[in-house]
Amino acid sequence: MGFTNHCQCISLALILILGALASQAAACTLQDVAMDEKYEQWMAHYGRVYENNYEKEKRFKIFKENVAYIESFNGAGTKPYKLGINQFADLTNKEFTVTRNRFMGHECSTKISSFKYENVTVLPSAMDWRKKGAVTPIKDQGQCGCCWAFSAVAAMEGITKLSTGQLISLSKQELVDCDIKGIDQGCGGGLMDNAFQFIQHNQGLTTEANYPYKGVDGTCNTKGEANHAAKINGYEDVPANSEKALLKAAAHQPISDAIDAGGSDFQFYSSGIFTGECGTSLDHGVTAVGYGITNDGTKYWLVKNSWGTEWGEEGYIRMQRDIDAEEGLCGIAMQASYPTA
Ligand SMILES: *[C@@H]1O[C@H](CO)[C@@H](O)[C@H](O)[C@H]1NC(C)=O
Repeated sequence: MGFTNHCQCISLALILILGALASQAAACTLQDVAMDEKYEQWMAHYGRVYENNYEKEKRFKIFKENVAYIESFNGAGTKPYKLGINQFADLTNKEFTVTRNRFMGHECSTKISSFKYENVTVLPSAMDWRKKGAVTPIKDQGQCGCCWAFSAVAAMEGITKLSTGQLISLSKQELVDCDIKGIDQGCGGGLMDNAFQFIQHNQGLTTEANYPYKGVDGTCNTKGEANHAAKINGYEDVPANSEKALLKAAAHQPISDAIDAGGSDFQFYSSGIFTGECGTSLDHGVTAVGYGITNDGTKYWLVKNSWGTEWGEEGYIRMQRDIDAEEGLCGIAMQASYPTA
């Protein structure tokens, strides 16, 4: 009897073990199928087509790693922001930084810039230039590293609205194609200050409608000054490494900002107050279009990006403001500037 019982026990145990293994196998397959499906849906959503199966498999591997990272980050819930699967989900962080972020930082400016807002004392506690009608819709720079052009143009659109009352989408492609004498290299990178200089000498910029964005380097094709829709008088740099100075400026107009946008968390930012990780290797041009404070008392910069509306909060990011380091989060206070009307 004892033997039989023992035997039954073993069979029962075996059945249990086999059952567990089987269900685990099923779970494994299910998970893979789910990931496969997720990938196919993602490819369809972003219109991604790969040259061959090898490339597709390679991208799938990166996609899975990114999804795992995003899910574990959100699951941990230790930061006041969330990550999301976006158009960059099949790129490693290295590939992402190489193609997108082409702000040529750390140019030492020899120009001693005056700062017209230096004596401002009374500032609103929050500002959102979108609500003042001074911000055009979010754009997508695509694979072209001309963030500097988007940043400069957004600041120019802002000051144009404030000085003329008109909000006009201005041409980035004119900068990409025509601002090629100095350091600016179209999709290869550039600086916002150089863009302002070019615009000043060019006596303005034409509209987006007249000279639409193509996202590749092209031949300069302007139809002359008659077509210019807006002008600037010059530009000024915000005194470096002072979020206070940046605040004075951002309270008066949208500001071009250089930041370090190279990290994975920036790549996949989807909502909330971004607090880093990020360094201060300035590699991306964006536009501060306001600032504010959350209900729980966190101060932030409201920043317009040029990666489409599916990145971040409809294309925007709120970055923590007034941090301990004088450079500001991701170096946001290091190289800010604005055009003057
Ligand atoms: C700020 O105030 C100082 C002292 O009165 C003055 O010298 C300077 O020109 C002012 N700056 C601006 C931009 O108005």
